[in-house]
Amino acid sequence: MSKKILVLPGDGIGPEIVNEAVKLLDVLRSRHGLDAELTQGLLGGCAVDATGKPLPDETLSAAREADAILLGAVGGPQYDKLDRPLRPERGLLAIRSELELFGNLRPAILYPQLASASSLKPEVVSGLDIMIVRELTGGIYFGQPRGIEQADGERRGYNTLAYKESEIERIGRLAFETARKRDGRLCSVDKANVLEVSELWREVMERLHAEYPDVELSHMYVDNAAMQLVRAPKQFDVMVTTNMFGDILSDCAAMLTGSIGMLPSASLDRHSKGMYEPIHGSAPDIAGQGLANPLATILSVAMMLRYSLDEPALADRVEAAVGRVLDQGLRTGDIHTEGTRRVGTAEMGEAVIAALAE
Ligand code: IPM
Ligand code: MG
Repeated sequence: MSKKILVLPGDGIGPEIVNEAVKLLDVLRSRHGLDAELTQGLLGGCAVDATGKPLPDETLSAAREADAILLGAVGGPQYDKLDRPLRPERGLLAIRSELELFGNLRPAILYPQLASASSLKPEVVSGLDIMIVRELTGGIYFGQPRGIEQADGERRGYNTLAYKESEIERIGRLAFETARKRDGRLCSVDKANVLEVSELWREVMERLHAEYPDVELSHMYVDNAAMQLVRAPKQFDVMVTTNMFGDILSDCAAMLTGSIGMLPSASLDRHSKGMYEPIHGSAPDIAGQGLANPLATILSVAMMLRYSLDEPALADRVEAAVGRVLDQGLRTGDIHTEGTRRVGTAEMGEAVIAALAE
């Protein structure tokens, strides 16, 4: 049966990078046997402009029907002054939550061709390959109560950090399974020296460990984890953590590779549905100029092929094509260094398609 892919280009550079990924999907369909149908929808600022809502009902129902979703990026300065419920980010948080996309996989891989783009010394980062497993539908992002209230003559803002055992357990399982398929080492990151919710997190991770004795489990406080990521990042294989700690640590890990424009991500539900998006944002400063790096979006398609479409061989093929294009010395502005050839969004996308055939 044909798989359904919902494409949500979003805002800023979203449409141009997604356009390259769609061209690639079309080639996979016409020449490489991918059986999938694509439809497009609105999410984020463009959806507010067109419908008054960052996550229109139509998009949500198309997303429920889909086997996989490809998202560009959402947000832009023109939307920053909107009321909080109308902001593009709210659309993103709502779709994650409505579809229960609790498992966010964020790889941080250093491409050997780009070693000099990192701000850390080459010997500290060469061969870096970390997978951050971030809980995505719970924790302080969604905890109730939340708000800003009037109290004792001033305003008081508050949020709630809470996790149920079942929420910790399902992200823990995903992390143990992920570690099992990699180097078998899992580091759970928390703040158990201060927070009760972290104490419970640690206890559940320990309990699960009994079911995954082949995986080596360690625990680290989040402040130390941030330091270790910058000091000696290669000590990590898989890291699992809460929504907000994962938000912060994954940006840090991504930057270690010097090429945030290269990194894809997957947000998975408990079956095989997933939303796939580049880690970088909507980059409004370069939007519409044909300069953005489409490789993170193209690599997000590879993750989609692997995790939602059951096409691991095609996923390998796309990843290999990206490697070849880097070997050829093609670089968009964000990863450009002396001696390489600077190209735009479309030329990069087309080069990947050409390299698919090799
Ligand atoms: C991310 C982003 C989002 C988050 C924002 C845009 C709401 O930073 O995906 O990491 O905080 O989760
Ligand atoms: Mg973030």
